[in-house]
Amino acid sequence: MSKPAYACSSCGSLLEIRVDISAAKDRLSRSNYVKRPLSVWKYREMLPVSKDAPIYTRSEGGTPLIKCRNLSDELGLRSLWIKFDGTNPTGSFKDRGMTVGITKAKELGMTTVTCASTGNTSASLSAYAGLAGMKCVVLIPEGKVALGKLAQAMMHGATVVAVKGNFDQALDIVMKSSEKLGMYVLNSVNPFRIEGQKTAAYEICDQLGGLSPFVLYIPVGNGGNSAAYWKGFSEYEDLELVSDHPIMRGIQAEGAAPIARMFEKHLKELVPVKKPDTVATAIRIGNPANWKKTYKAIKESGGCASTVSDKEILDAQNLMAKKEGIFAEPAGAAALAGLIKDIEDGEVDRNAEIVCVSTGHGLKDPDTAVRQSLKPRTIEASIEALEKLLEDT
Ligand code: F0G
Repeated sequence: MSKPAYACSSCGSLLEIRVDISAAKDRLSRSNYVKRPLSVWKYREMLPVSKDAPIYTRSEGGTPLIKCRNLSDELGLRSLWIKFDGTNPTGSFKDRGMTVGITKAKELGMTTVTCASTGNTSASLSAYAGLAGMKCVVLIPEGKVALGKLAQAMMHGATVVAVKGNFDQALDIVMKSSEKLGMYVLNSVNPFRIEGQKTAAYEICDQLGGLSPFVLYIPVGNGGNSAAYWKGFSEYEDLELVSDHPIMRGIQAEGAAPIARMFEKHLKELVPVKKPDTVATAIRIGNPANWKKTYKAIKESGGCASTVSDKEILDAQNLMAKKEGIFAEPAGAAALAGLIKDIEDGEVDRNAEIVCVSTGHGLKDPDTAVRQSLKPRTIEASIEALEKLLEDT
């Protein structure tokens, strides 16, 4: 078996899979993909796995694109949608990439998989590795992974390693040691992961009846997902399944915003943030591995990246939960926070078709949810006590 590669040996840039569009058109027209239910594997003809490869799946994708009428009224918008990827099998968008990544890893004959993670990648990888009967080693930043995600990785049977450092340091160890230790890396530096994740963009176009949104707000951490969405939108346009693409608005947390700083300061190179920090621990990343791809994607789309504060993230998380019944983890509310900030700055076309991507479920991070909410009131076990309490409130 040849050694796995994640980057080009001459220029150092991460590898990317190119789809032969005319061959893909042909494959799609011969398939009955239009009739298949919405899911990652609906688009099998667009995914780089062999025809006969056994697929490791738990029904990824097919997540709702929710028309947010209450939020639209509140914010004065005509048409606001939330693509809620928190409804994936392990509660985040990572499953889209992992079903393809693990399927491919098996096809390549890998036996041990690994990742560094702020939480969701480790939860997803450990689940799919278990499903495929593979060994799994995940590295997480000590004390900075939300409780639900930690519980998932532990329950699914991964070897969970807490690194005394941040995500960037953990990823550095993974990248430098994987070859020596015989482990296949399934971070978003792996191009097959990106292929799975791009299906979210296809789905949005299908859910909008063959139209692209005007603008897409998306949280950015390591930069894999925003690059994947752009790849998906671009391919759908090349396939002539849509006639346009959205402007991409990448949103980072103020304390972990090296890509947003590139846009603000017109930099050509990334300046890593040494000590990234944010309540949205999923995107607590200072040196995004995919910065080149994501910077290029956002630029090509005609968009930009910008920041939101932790307070703005938590306010958006609350608003989504209270007005729409959508419980997202903090990083999964960053896109909405970015949109709200743009509205306040007068930078939003209120008549446009707007999609915010919500990437992970709120139950992933119960501590942050409980910390910012009203505590339950305790009463004696009587009807009178309940009556009195309701009178007083
Ligand atoms: N939202 C959530 C809920 C995430 O878990 C992540 C990344 C992102 C957004 C950002 O996506 O990194 O592709 O730009 N989580 C990774 C992890 C880093 O390890 O779970 P990105």
